Amino acid sequence: MFSYKQLRSRSRILTSRVSEGMFFLRRFVGAPRQVGSVMPSSPYLMRAMMDRIDWDLPLNIAELGAGTGVFTRAIVGRMTSGENPDEKLNGNLMVFEIDPALKAIIEKEIAGLVVYGDARELPQIMESLSVRQLDYVVSSLPFAVLPPRMTASILDAVDDGLKPDGKLIAYQYSKHMKPYFEKRFESVKISFVLRNVPPAFVYECSNPKKKK
Ligand SMILES: C[S@@+](CC[C@H](N)C(=O)[O-])C[C@H]1O[C@@H](n2cnc3c(N)ncnc32)[C@H](O)[C@@H]1O
Repeated sequence: MFSYKQLRSRSRILTSRVSEGMFFLRRFVGAPRQVGSVMPSSPYLMRAMMDRIDWDLPLNIAELGAGTGVFTRAIVGRMTSGENPDEKLNGNLMVFEIDPALKAIIEKEIAGLVVYGDARELPQIMESLSVRQLDYVVSSLPFAVLPPRMTASILDAVDDGLKPDGKLIAYQYSKHMKPYFEKRFESVKISFVLRNVPPAFVYECSNPKKKK
C-alpha cells in the first residue's frame, strides 16, 4: 500500500512525464525526421544505455540529441554524488540538442548546464572547452533518417573525438546503421530493449578504427 504522500509524488511524476511526452510528440509532428521518435525514451532504455558505461569518474562524455533530457538527467546524476544540487560534475559533459525548444527545457531543469545546438559542432565545442578526447559519446540521434551527409559528418566528429579505447553508445530503431558502425569501429555489440516505444537496438561501438 502507498501512503498519501507517496501517491501524490507518484502522480506528480506521472503528470510531468505525460506533459513532457505531449510536448515531445508536438516537436515530432513539426520535424519527424529530425526528432525521429514519437516519445521520449523509457527508463528501461535509459538504464540499458547507462549500463554500457564504466562510471569510473572523471569522464569526458558528449551526449548527442538530448530531447527532453531523459539521458542527460541520468548522466548528470551519475557524474555527481547527488547530495548538493550546485555540485560540479566530475568530468566534462557536452550536451547537444538542435531543437531550441527542447534545449530550453533541459537548460531550465538542470541549472548551470549549457546545452549546445547541432552535434556537428562537437569538434569546435571540444576545442573551446580544451577537452582533447572523449571517453564516451551517448547518442540518441536518428542516424538512419537524418540527411546522409549530416550523419556522416557527425560520425566523423565522433571518430575524431573519441579516445582510442573510447565508445559510442547509441540506440536506433533498426539494424540499418550496423554496417556503417562496423566500418568505423573494431567492435559493435548490439542488444535489444523491448520495453520502449518503439522497441530499440542499443549499439555499443568500441575502438574507432581511425585511431589504429
Ligand atoms: C529520438 S530523439 C531522442 C531524445 C532523447 N534523447 C530520448 O532518448 O528521449 C532525437 C533527438 O535528436 C535531436 N537532433 C536531431 N538532429 C540533431 C543534430 N544534428 N544535433 C543535435 N541534436 C539533433 C532531435 O531534435 C531529437 O530531440
